Amino acid sequence: LDEKIQLKKRIADLLKEKQAVLVAHYYVDSDLQDLAEETGGCVSDSLEMARFGRDHAAKTLIVAGVKFMGETAKILSPEKTILMPDLDATCSLDLGCDPEEFAAFCDAHPDRTVVVYANTSAAVKARADWMVTSSVGLDIVAHLHAQGKKILWAPDKHLGGYIQKQTGADMLLWQGSCLVHDEFKGIELEILKESHPDAKILVHPESPAAVVALADVVGSTSQLINAAKTMDAQEFIVATDNGILHKMQIAAPSKKFIVAPTAGNSATCKSCAHCPWMAMNGLRNLLHVLETGENQIQVDPVVGREAKRSIDRMLDFAA
Ligand code: 13P
Ligand code: SF4
Repeated sequence: LDEKIQLKKRIADLLKEKQAVLVAHYYVDSDLQDLAEETGGCVSDSLEMARFGRDHAAKTLIVAGVKFMGETAKILSPEKTILMPDLDATCSLDLGCDPEEFAAFCDAHPDRTVVVYANTSAAVKARADWMVTSSVGLDIVAHLHAQGKKILWAPDKHLGGYIQKQTGADMLLWQGSCLVHDEFKGIELEILKESHPDAKILVHPESPAAVVALADVVGSTSQLINAAKTMDAQEFIVATDNGILHKMQIAAPSKKFIVAPTAGNSATCKSCAHCPWMAMNGLRNLLHVLETGENQIQVDPVVGREAKRSIDRMLDFAA
């Protein structure tokens, strides 16, 4: 415990000394989330991380999350230094959407407006008309649908399918998925709900349709935390990465939170309810990058400028 306190103190001192700020996602280790808040940084969903990083005056941002979050920060602020505790922290959606294959998919459907999820590489964002996060994806597609636009969507098939169902938009879907959310199971959730009849079900839309169908609230990580705080219920079943429970418990200390059932349990399934790439962020590697300046995120400036168009569209829409 002593070592942890010392590590946190050293990191806090270095953040100040280097005029750096820590931007963390809700899925990372709770120590990093707390540290981000205690030192004037932020812990939030991916939309708010992007906005916070863009608007903050700090010269250096430390992004505790996964690669696409660091890249988005760099694209929005090319003049800032962006560091990440582990550059290998990626995302199965990003890995499953190769930029060249994606470009060929777009080329084959030139009549469609290209909307991509934030969980993609800079090159994929550069090919898109719009980038969206889970907090505004539905509203943006509804807006495009109202203008009569047909959509090409990538990469998450579950989020895309959910938006398609809600908006009635004509959407052609790339078949990617998140390895964490893909593990949540509808039938097991239904059985769990039977033994917790008063519990409300909170679901991230990267989950399969059978899970989303049982939800009381579907939303981004920030939206789910807000629901946990404001909904009139004492018990919640949560279908997203279990890192989110830290903040939910702080937001609603008297309420009870249960992680939704997955195919395996933590002994048999490494990615069940916890993202293995988010888990790569720790106090030690965070301190290391602050001390050394290693693990800088770089984005090709030409690709970055193209990608920025699609990100800015979302940020303007959500403003
Ligand atoms: P949010 O934008 O809801 O924070 O989601 C990011 C993510 O990677 C979820 O798996
Ligand atoms: Fe990607 Fe899923 Fe991890 Fe989110 S939880 S970063 S979507 S692999």
